[in-house]
Amino acid sequence: MYKVAYSQVLVVILLLGLYSALGQDGGQTTDGGRQKKVIKGKTVQEMAAKSNLPEWEVYKRLFMQQRKEQLDAVKSILQMGSYEKQYKMIEMLFEKIFDVVEKKRVLLIENGFLPTDEFPKDESIREAFSMVAEATAFFGDILLRLPDISHKIYERHKEWQVSLGWCITYLNQSDIFSIDSDQKLNLLSLVAQELQLVERDPNYINPYKTEVNEMIEEAKKQQQMEEKEKKKKKKKEKRKGPRLTGVRNEL
Ligand SMILES: *[C@@H]1O[C@H](CO)[C@@H](O)[C@H](O)[C@H]1NC(C)=O
Repeated sequence: MYKVAYSQVLVVILLLGLYSALGQDGGQTTDGGRQKKVIKGKTVQEMAAKSNLPEWEVYKRLFMQQRKEQLDAVKSILQMGSYEKQYKMIEMLFEKIFDVVEKKRVLLIENGFLPTDEFPKDESIREAFSMVAEATAFFGDILLRLPDISHKIYERHKEWQVSLGWCITYLNQSDIFSIDSDQKLNLLSLVAQELQLVERDPNYINPYKTEVNEMIEEAKKQQQMEEKEKKKKKKKEKRKGPRLTGVRNEL
């Protein structure tokens, strides 16, 4: 119980990070939230100036850092154990993700901003771009690691398909997904193949499936062990305590 509650909190925090990742210039990160610190537009510019790296390169590194945190959230969904809980959580996340994407996508189109342009000076464009990139990455991480549930939910929402197709084509012009130490392959290409937005490579497999199965097995074992422990404890209590409690528990 405790574990699940914790995971949910983590996911929600990360989701909030999705909204506020870029924050406002001048807004202090007094909450200590790493998310806000990480991809704040001004930080990118300051770091670029200090390190002599191009702004896009700095952004890319920060983006990769943040992807790791999102991945932790996905792992916590995997460890939820119950299918219903995972389903509800993913449905809620997808709804938020596509809500963000749809709003920000319009802004990017209206401003004619392309990922091949210079790193945006305008805060709202920086924010829109970053949110689209983060949301797409988060979606992809969930899709590839929990494919069965994700497919089910995604296929019920035809309206998301246009959004996602656009995001993949759009972000594919950027190189922020190109080198990704956590990824065995390019995430955009994996997502496009997994959803068959493009023709699948004959050798295509979802590279995370085995990894995920192992994690699920591990979580199951853990749960079984915990249940055994509980039963043992209960048995002891049952022997000591009044019979009625035991009977009620069985009902
Ligand atoms: C991304 O762009 C490259 C080069 O233009 C192309 O070969 C590839 O198919 C594109 N990937 C996706 C997922 O659209």
